[in-house]
Amino acid sequence: MLTNKNILVGVTGSIAAYKAAYLVRLLIKEGANVRVIMTPFAKEFITPLTLSTLSGYPVQSDNFNKDNGSWHSHIDYGSWADLMLFAPATANTIGKMANGVCDNFLIACFLAARCPVYIAPAMDVDMLMHFTTQDNLSRLSEHGVKIITPAEGELASGLFGAGRMEEPEIIVNVIKEYFRNSAILSGRKVLVTAGPTYEAIDPVRYIGNHSSGKMGYAIAQELLNCGANVELISGPVNLNITHKNLKLTKVVNAEEMHAAVIDKFPECNIAIMSAAVADYTPVKICNEKIKKADNNLQIELKHTIDILGDLGKMKKDKQILVGFALETENESENAFKKLVNKNLDFIVLNSLKEKGAGFGFDTNKVSIIDKNKFCQNFDLKSKTDVAKDIINKIIQISI
Ligand code: CTP
Repeated sequence: MLTNKNILVGVTGSIAAYKAAYLVRLLIKEGANVRVIMTPFAKEFITPLTLSTLSGYPVQSDNFNKDNGSWHSHIDYGSWADLMLFAPATANTIGKMANGVCDNFLIACFLAARCPVYIAPAMDVDMLMHFTTQDNLSRLSEHGVKIITPAEGELASGLFGAGRMEEPEIIVNVIKEYFRNSAILSGRKVLVTAGPTYEAIDPVRYIGNHSSGKMGYAIAQELLNCGANVELISGPVNLNITHKNLKLTKVVNAEEMHAAVIDKFPECNIAIMSAAVADYTPVKICNEKIKKADNNLQIELKHTIDILGDLGKMKKDKQILVGFALETENESENAFKKLVNKNLDFIVLNSLKEKGAGFGFDTNKVSIIDKNKFCQNFDLKSKTDVAKDIINKIIQISI
């Protein structure tokens, strides 16, 4: 499963560093090419000789060789790696990673890496729960670093709690799962819409909605993790996403989103329309700011173009079209009607009634209803996990 995958293992100064030896051995047994970088402090816990013998490659720790002055390029290491794994990752290294504190060769490689990064934290329970560590982990996670949650158990300090670096076998399974998934949608092009649209009333005001874009961006990120090429058409949001397989088109209103989507759809295999497109737009946009002198302001509105409906009409047999529905009554029935009217393969029904679901939250609760009226109800979960459920459904129906 890991044959010829280049894995860069970063070992930092924790007592759990002894587990890195077994981890490297397992990765090699799976067929991976492994290079190890140690922080200076990690060498107090386990010798470079152990890890270079197991990996079959000299262990690096410094930017240059102190004996002959030859340079070790962090850029070369960063671009060599298909995946970078920090195991164990100490609170100190996590803090440096989250803040770009580049005072050793390992962090320089992290900053230069273009590949996915996994970290297996190891520390005492209080250090793990400290707000600074939690903030740093959240920041890394927001930027796509995958955290392999530490296990609970007896810690080196004698305390009991969370903080034990996960066992090497489990870490290797996580890595194998990443490589299995990373190819599953390779060669597929997927169109995703995200966020709200803003419909201008005058130069300073607009009609909009509370959509944060988090659901659509999570879908785009998970598709990228599965190897897809993603065309993301995004309304105005406060989110960032970058990836070599991503093309991001920013739009403001429904008309611009419609134009971008119609342009890209013919070359896409799959389209997931998660944007909360405004349903109405002003008939006329005032060129000048409307003065409040008029007590009885009336704005005449017209329907925006139904983007999803147009895609349903254009859709070819092999294309998969997924829509979202937000209903407050007869939810499943109305969602299914939408699926039929818009010629969708399945529809994701958002529950607005559940606490923690919907606009602005990091969690969502959805049901997926397909063409055969088969309905799967999912629990409240992170938008990342909801995105995985949606992508699993796509994989199921496209095989
Ligand atoms: N949608 C769209 N174009 C619009 C409005 C909505 O493509 N002008 C898409 C959304 O991206 C979503 C789906 O339609 O995938 C459902 O949106 P929703 O607002 O629930 O449904 P509507 O079709 O607008 O119907 P209604 O508001 O009457 O329920």
